Amino acid sequence: MSPTATDPARRHAALVAEIRAHDHRYYVLDDPSVSDAEYDALLRELKGLEAAQPELATPDSPTRRVAGAPRSDLRTVPHVAPMMSLDNAYAEADLADFVRRVTEGLPAGARPRFIVEPKLDGGSVELVYREGRLVEGSTRGDGASGEEITHNLRTIRALPVTLPYHDPLTLRGEVVLYRRDLARLNAAREAAGEPPFANPRNAATGSVRLLDPREVARRPLRVLIWQVVEGPAFAPSHSAALDRLAALGLPTHRAHVVCDDLAAVTAAIRDIDARRPDYPYETDGAVVKVDDFRHQEVLGATSKFPRWAIAYKFQAERAATRLLAITVQVGRTGALTPVAELEPVRLAGTLVSRASLHNEDVIAGLDVRIGDLVEVEKAGEIIPQVVGVRADQRTGDERAFAMPERCPACETPVERREGEAALRCPNRRCPAVVKGAIEHYCRRFAMDIDSVGEALVDQLVARGLVADVADLYDLQAAAVAALDRMGAKSAENVIGAIRASRERPLERLLTGVGIEHVGQVAARQLAEAAGTLAQLLTWSPEEARERAAAIAGFGPKMAESVARFLHDPESRALLERLLAREVSRPQPAAVVAAGGPLAGASFCVTGVLSRKREDVHAAIRAAGGEVHDKVRKGTTYLVTGEKVGKSKTDAARKHGAEILTEAELDAKLAPPDA
Ligand code: IVH
Repeated sequence: MSPTATDPARRHAALVAEIRAHDHRYYVLDDPSVSDAEYDALLRELKGLEAAQPELATPDSPTRRVAGAPRSDLRTVPHVAPMMSLDNAYAEADLADFVRRVTEGLPAGARPRFIVEPKLDGGSVELVYREGRLVEGSTRGDGASGEEITHNLRTIRALPVTLPYHDPLTLRGEVVLYRRDLARLNAAREAAGEPPFANPRNAATGSVRLLDPREVARRPLRVLIWQVVEGPAFAPSHSAALDRLAALGLPTHRAHVVCDDLAAVTAAIRDIDARRPDYPYETDGAVVKVDDFRHQEVLGATSKFPRWAIAYKFQAERAATRLLAITVQVGRTGALTPVAELEPVRLAGTLVSRASLHNEDVIAGLDVRIGDLVEVEKAGEIIPQVVGVRADQRTGDERAFAMPERCPACETPVERREGEAALRCPNRRCPAVVKGAIEHYCRRFAMDIDSVGEALVDQLVARGLVADVADLYDLQAAAVAALDRMGAKSAENVIGAIRASRERPLERLLTGVGIEHVGQVAARQLAEAAGTLAQLLTWSPEEARERAAAIAGFGPKMAESVARFLHDPESRALLERLLAREVSRPQPAAVVAAGGPLAGASFCVTGVLSRKREDVHAAIRAAGGEVHDKVRKGTTYLVTGEKVGKSKTDAARKHGAEILTEAELDAKLAPPDA
């Protein structure tokens, strides 16, 4: 049969070409020219043709985006070349250093050009094309090898599965979700009773590692390419490579700026920062790269990152919104915290409706009034802050706010201690204080009783079943089973989890009872000094002060607080009741690693890391390093994860501590020559 105009093979080829062109317009150019219905009609026709003539359905047909059965696990594959991370710049001075280092690293007279582009906040992936076909995709993994996720990347319509380019091509880029796509995805998830994603980044990184490509296909993921590994074989420079990728139909961010000097680089970064809300994706910084691939080669890389690129991290994302009310929360220490109740506003990828106002001095300093348009900032912290007021936007209807004179939870007159900014409820039996203390005790980093959450604590306290943490150990299953949303089985679980918490080492108990100025690290040191709870209780006030003061890093305030806690009648009675209930086990002796790779260095660890913070502390100690809760004079390194508070990085800068990423810490823990 000779092909004619109505020949199915021809029609098939025409449909494939048309659908690909629409995919490109929609996903890559963000400029669709047909409606969803018209697009679906083309895809339906294609499926019909392939159903009638299965030999037409080649693996790269648009109908075959979702291919294969769900996986049971993901295979690890090596990267063509290591996927390095980027050195970070936090201030414009760091950029000046970078430009100087680059210039000095090149032959005299060379004038490097720079590319500034958005740093995309998603998950990085490697894509391998061979003979014009997408043959493998993988996650970054540990940089040397990652998880093979080709089946999932194939479902991303923005990504061509064939290319009009046949030489080996290895690309790297970011899997992202546009904010508007996340809003739609979350609405659908909530309608289906599934939890919404907190932000586009979590949605993207979680989705690419799913085992079932059919589920991935339902998520509106995109890929934006930011690197060609073959570099000079593909184009003379990074900017030329980005242009060539776009011409081949590959998705790039199309937001790079060519800069000739430091002034232009700085201006381009400021511009990207200002435009963040306009980009459809989340950006957490800008990346500056040396453009010319020959220059990149001359500059080379350290063991961790290329010398030809740097990431400039933006400080924070800000937004303006209406302050609807100020409510007051009472925490476990009795401190009253004013909380701004806001008209919901999108900030750094999440919807924010509450922000901290810290204390009455902050409210007075900002002169913030109810009804004001306020500036809210999320400087990496988990809790957003109100940082400013648009006083010029006032109508005159705004109302001043005064902190209450009585505790909102128990009506006791509040107090302000000398030298403190916080008002406190002095009533130790205040239900808000009691609940806060019990919730803190049960947290993961303390006694880790995860079946006792906020809702259960509310009921236990409201019904008078528990008045302090020692009462938890006297709870009867029948009483718990009688509470709302509890049954015999869940009550048994709760009782079992509480009982199991008795096996935790002393440091967890000391973290859980909340001694003022004693954080997780100090609680561990104190536990190591005492050994057991019984032993700790034998310390006289003087002995407690002396012993605590002898612990590395304990100042007089901490030592005094330990002595006070041990001899205050109420807190002492609590510890004695915990001892009578056999809560906590002897603290294992400190492992002293003499002469490890980190000997002589002191660390503070902050932010969300890939593993539990206490495991990071243990690894540092095992390598001979010291760990402290705070950055102080003499701290050598601040190790930062995600969501790092500005106060910690500011303190690091002030005290001259070097800021490390988790990967950089790992490199120090296991030096390559070890
Ligand atoms: S270039 C040799 N460009 O940031 C490393 N990275 O800290 C070259 N990222 O793992 C990286 N946007 O996931 C580059 N425009 C961009 C980027 C970008 C986001 C991520 C990437 C990388 C991490 C480096």
